[in-house]
Amino acid sequence: MSHQNFLTLLDLEPETLRGLVRRAIELKKLQQAGTPHETLKHKILAMVFEKSSTRTRMSFEAGMAQLGGHAIFLSPRDTQLGRGETVEDSARVLSRMADVIMIRTFEHEKIERFSAHSRVPVINALTDLYHPCQLLADMQTYFEQRGDISGKTVAWIGDGNNMCHSYINAARQYGFTLNIACPEGYDPEAGILQAAGASALIIRDPLDAARNADLVVTDVWASMGQEEEQAKRERAFADYQVDSRLMQAAAGDALFMHCLPAHRGEEVTAGVIDGPQSVVWDEAENRLHAQKALLEFLLR
Ligand code: CP
Ligand code: NVA
Repeated sequence: MSHQNFLTLLDLEPETLRGLVRRAIELKKLQQAGTPHETLKHKILAMVFEKSSTRTRMSFEAGMAQLGGHAIFLSPRDTQLGRGETVEDSARVLSRMADVIMIRTFEHEKIERFSAHSRVPVINALTDLYHPCQLLADMQTYFEQRGDISGKTVAWIGDGNNMCHSYINAARQYGFTLNIACPEGYDPEAGILQAAGASALIIRDPLDAARNADLVVTDVWASMGQEEEQAKRERAFADYQVDSRLMQAAAGDALFMHCLPAHRGEEVTAGVIDGPQSVVWDEAENRLHAQKALLEFLLR
């Protein structure tokens, strides 16, 4: 198949990923100026959501509308996918009607199977393993606020989850160093970490990981699908909260990011997420602009 997918950050060349950040910043200016930019007129995005979403659905749907196209929301509750029609058959059918397909699901292997049977580009809108669209927005946010992230230090505090895995890939692709502080037993997948070489390392202690960091990032302690582990995880992650002490260990101009939704009082204090170093609202908004750049690139 000749089309380009976006299942992980490793699907695109580093220069392409930087180009997406540049285009996202341009698209943001166009939108803010009220300048029409209907580069995807009449194009259709199919959006398959097997997990909840606020930002991802809103940003893809608004983004397609602003680009002159259309987005169709599909949930397992009211599609045949939810009644056992296979992933392969669903991919064959949806990709004959849509120009691009976005999927949020559980097993990463499912999106790989889907994309193998799709005629059109497939975008990973979060799996248990990765959340690459969020990283496009996070990188855009860093570049807007502080310039190039290459050579900088990013501290990941918390679970070695889908967001952590995408940060590991981003460290490789955008050229920063990722210090990961996670409790034992909640490490990122060894293969993903090893493939990043010296770009990503487990530091374990949150204060050590955050020391002189240019960006501090965290995420929920229990991801979607792990709700029943909440109490156990609260105990395991008790020492992994991003608070003012941790932010003080970081560089003086360090930023704080969180993909959201957040739990104030768990992974981050209200003082930090609602404080001056936090850029979480720009980060959330940038999902819109970054994904518009991605859609344009995949449908170019
Ligand atoms: N950050 C993010 O993907 O948010 P939603 O789950 O609301 O889409
Ligand atoms: N790690 C979180 C990210 C939510 C956007 C989850 O998978 O639920």
